[in-house]
Amino acid sequence: MTALFRLLRDADLSTRNTFAVAARTPWLLEVNDPAALAEALDLEQVRGLPLLMLGGGSNLLFAGDAPGVTVAVRAPEVSIIEDRGDRAIVRAGAGVDWHRLVTWSLDRGLCGLENLALIPGSTGAAPIQNIGAYGVEVGEHIVAVDAWDRHARQPVRLDRAACAFGYRDSAFKRDPGRWIVTAVELDLAKRAAPRLDYAGIGEELARMGVAAPGARDVAEAVIRIRRRKLPDPAVVGNAGSFFKNPIVPAAQAQALLDAHPRLPAFAGDGEATRKLSAAWLIDACGWKGAREGDAGVSAAHALVLVNHGHATGLQLLDLARRIAASVHARFGVALEPEPRIVGADW
Ligand code: EPU
Repeated sequence: MTALFRLLRDADLSTRNTFAVAARTPWLLEVNDPAALAEALDLEQVRGLPLLMLGGGSNLLFAGDAPGVTVAVRAPEVSIIEDRGDRAIVRAGAGVDWHRLVTWSLDRGLCGLENLALIPGSTGAAPIQNIGAYGVEVGEHIVAVDAWDRHARQPVRLDRAACAFGYRDSAFKRDPGRWIVTAVELDLAKRAAPRLDYAGIGEELARMGVAAPGARDVAEAVIRIRRRKLPDPAVVGNAGSFFKNPIVPAAQAQALLDAHPRLPAFAGDGEATRKLSAAWLIDACGWKGAREGDAGVSAAHALVLVNHGHATGLQLLDLARRIAASVHARFGVALEPEPRIVGADW
């Protein structure tokens, strides 16, 4: 029988972050059964210490060691909990690998997550930054998130509205340290309704020779595009997009577009704003493929910072700050990091 939880002292986190930077934590709490969270968090060594929630480690940068207690919830179960005729509700534990959940649902004829194929990380981390790709965000499919609420010291259930999803944002992200996500419930359709609006997907399907794509075809197209554009963290350390695409006032976007007509601009979070391509802005400042020691910018995608070997988190953070400063100086746009930075302020 597996223990319900395990507390390790002075643990190494270098293999638990996809940047593969060196970092340690005074305590690593591995929780196999979320029902044991209350007991685990009440351990004498743990009580009162700051907590860091760790999923697949694919969306954080250790600029220093993690303070206090690092918590990893395993919870690897996934099942269909409700059949709603043309739809089904899938429940997945926080520890389920995200891409495994995507393929698991497609194998059962359930559609909706195909555009989110191959995103690194765990299911428990998915709602925190409301993972999104190729025109779809996970928040569209989430019906509820089960979490441990450290304020109330009890398990809680947040429906979609309470999760307050935004672009790479949620109630969980806005209040780090409060919630420990234990399970996610998703509403998936039995009939595919392919979302092909994002540039590149239609072209990829055409290259694949697929005329009437099903959900699996879309997943395959997304996988091909990602493999081509984004470095594989198993090969070179990275955390996907390092910066969010900046949302700016529409008038500012228009002025920038007048000066730079090729700058990609998308709908913002309302009429008054536009979302700009951070990759384009960074690329235009000449950073793509740059390398300083082992810290660099991917030669395949300007939004992705990479660790070529032994870069430290601080070296990567320093590079990121200089990239943001040069984009600000040239375009007057402030870039914000997408991953959580541990051990330093942005
Ligand atoms: N571009 C450049 N130079 C580059 C790369 C891209 O100029 O080196 C320009 C191109 O014009 C391209 C545009 O930027 O058309 C957009 O690029 P891309 O389609 O790769 O999307 P993105 O806006 O850079 C976002 C997400 C990705 C997600 C893709 C696809 C953010 C911060 N990033 O990137 O998410 O996979 O769209 O939907 O929103 C992640 O969050 O880690 C991530 C990889």
